[in-house]
Amino acid sequence: MSADELIRRAADVRAVALDDVRGAGSLDGLHDAERRAKAALADVKKGIKDVPGDQRAGVGQALGAAEAAVRDAAEARRSDLEAAARSGAAERERLDLSSLGRDYRRGHLHPVTQTWRALEDIFVGLGYSVFYGPEVEDDWHNFEALNFPPGHPARAMQDTLYVDLGEPEQVMLRTHTSPMQIRLMETQPLPIYAVIPGRTFRRDTMDARHSPVFHQIECLVIDKGITLGHLFGTIDVFFRALFGDVEARFLPSFFPFTEPSAELATSCPFCHKAGCRVCSQTGWIELGGCGMVDPNVFAACGIDSEEYSGFAFGFGIDRIPLLVNQVPDLKTLLWDNDVRFLEQL
Ligand code: DAH
Repeated sequence: MSADELIRRAADVRAVALDDVRGAGSLDGLHDAERRAKAALADVKKGIKDVPGDQRAGVGQALGAAEAAVRDAAEARRSDLEAAARSGAAERERLDLSSLGRDYRRGHLHPVTQTWRALEDIFVGLGYSVFYGPEVEDDWHNFEALNFPPGHPARAMQDTLYVDLGEPEQVMLRTHTSPMQIRLMETQPLPIYAVIPGRTFRRDTMDARHSPVFHQIECLVIDKGITLGHLFGTIDVFFRALFGDVEARFLPSFFPFTEPSAELATSCPFCHKAGCRVCSQTGWIELGGCGMVDPNVFAACGIDSEEYSGFAFGFGIDRIPLLVNQVPDLKTLLWDNDVRFLEQL
């Protein structure tokens, strides 16, 4: 190929490459266009070796000028593309500080926790202290000091979940919150005005009315001159704070750690004793037990029952949200953890 022909080819390559580079739509595209231009110019350059020595300079100049023109055009295109990318990013990444933000769903406390706290609030309002006790207990606190004789049905294997620790049947998951009566009498200065809510355990299979894990609240009052009248009055005030316009009912009963003992019921807050589905047409709802602290319990804790007297009561917490919300099934309330149900309460 002659020098003239090579110079013409260099001009053609230059024209095509400049169009290519100037038309690049992105930095990557520009990179490709530059690579194509270099390859095409290198191809032309290969022809120089066949050109007579004195004509090579002219071809070299044409090629050098083409290279420089392509480089300048690429440089210009690169800064245009970079500027466009920057202003695009500014637009894309702009924060609208005046927008209201995205709403998110907020949960609420479990209905049992709500009731637990409402109970604490009522008693704190009456001047009581709130205590929590251990969920793993020993035989002394759970049974013996509470005046359960050995062989009492409540101590039997079918009710108590024993822990495999120490002597057989000496360590257990507490079957009620009453052991905290003993712990408070052993450790607290008198008088005592206390409530103890907590988790309790029995060997029951989960069904509509039973659960191996449930909740109770215990109340203990020890002072000079405490009578059954104080117990009745306290329960009366407490039930009205919890349920509104209701009556308390006490039916004689037996618990080893209270004497006398009574079963505790409230008149039905829904039908006011007329009878309805919630109270199974009886007009009353059983909640728990109560009584005057037994002198044997005082003796076990080293308290002089000639000087001090006291009352105690205890009942299940779970029944309350069950009744108030008319939930038919304890399992639904305690076990299933179905948010579609719980979010309604
Ligand atoms: N601890 C008893 C139970 O779980 C309930 C109870 C009865 C508690 C009488 C008391 C009480 O404080 O005085 O069945």
